[in-house]
Amino acid sequence: MGLAMFFDVRRVAVIAAGLSLLAVHATGAQDFGDTPYVQTPQNVVERMLQVAKVGPGDYVIDLGSGDGRLVITAAQKYGARGFGVDLDRRLVELANKRAASAGVGDRAVFYERDIYETDLSGASVVTIYLLPEVNLMMRPTLLATLKPGTRVVTHDYDMAEWAPDEQMVMDAPDKPVGRDKKSKVFFYVIPANAAGKWRWEMPVADKPAVFNLNVAQNFQSVTGSVEFNGATLPLEKARLRGEDISFSLNDARGKTRYEFTGKISGRNITGAAQVASANAQRRLEWDAVRTESGTPAHALLKKPTMQELQQKLQ
Ligand SMILES: C[S@@+](CC[C@H](N)C(=O)[O-])C[C@H]1O[C@@H](n2cnc3c(N)ncnc32)[C@H](O)[C@@H]1O
Repeated sequence: MGLAMFFDVRRVAVIAAGLSLLAVHATGAQDFGDTPYVQTPQNVVERMLQVAKVGPGDYVIDLGSGDGRLVITAAQKYGARGFGVDLDRRLVELANKRAASAGVGDRAVFYERDIYETDLSGASVVTIYLLPEVNLMMRPTLLATLKPGTRVVTHDYDMAEWAPDEQMVMDAPDKPVGRDKKSKVFFYVIPANAAGKWRWEMPVADKPAVFNLNVAQNFQSVTGSVEFNGATLPLEKARLRGEDISFSLNDARGKTRYEFTGKISGRNITGAAQVASANAQRRLEWDAVRTESGTPAHALLKKPTMQELQQKLQ
């Protein structure tokens, strides 16, 4: 059987077996966790790369790379580099041939390799079109090994209770599966570790004051409070995106509002605070030091077993 025919047969089998990757699996045509080959339509490929703002400085890794379209497009159209891995040798050969024909064989390379055996640490962007249970199996590895700020973009299936930073539904007229010809795109940014205690000094009403920040974290969600001058104020509008953290404090005593923005780098946060009171507004430097390490709740997640996933996704 020719290569094209092989892919056609698999494609037709997938379409015939059900309306989505999940449906394919539900028919028994696939084992649980065994993602079949289904292409991401080219317009969805473009959108995934645009949402992740892929550019010449990026290193893109596609987990389960099929015919290589995500990494090839990232290289050809957006000037990035990267690699894809797939268990299917014929797809890996096809992807390498397509990269060479597109003139990006040196910047888009494909390996026959299991996603679970792949070193992801060099990625600035990871793209994924895998079954929901596979996303959940990969989730602890993504969170533990990718650098803060790394973008992860998935097609059709999300990361369960790890809420996406952005998500969209789009028309996908060329989609080989599904009746509605729609695709979902989910975008995540790997959060820095903000959990624990932080301390800094900053003037309050022109007198030096010590601020103590206490942060609890789960994925990119942060909550907590700041103690200073004898009061404990809850964080308002707290946001963590990659290494960028921001929050506000409302000090009713001095009718003062603080808006902090900063970048987390290991044991330090550096940034600025906008301080606004009834009669003054000023911008102060903000340099915090971590005084106690914390563990984000998501860091305690273990790779789930297939049995746990089957129960969870039932
Ligand atoms: C749904 S297709 C996606 C193909 C491509 N990324 C795209 O979006 O067009 C999933 C691919 O993952 C591959 N795959 C499934 N499980 C894998 C694993 N454990 N390691 C590597 N590749 C895997 C399959 O062979 C298939 O080509």
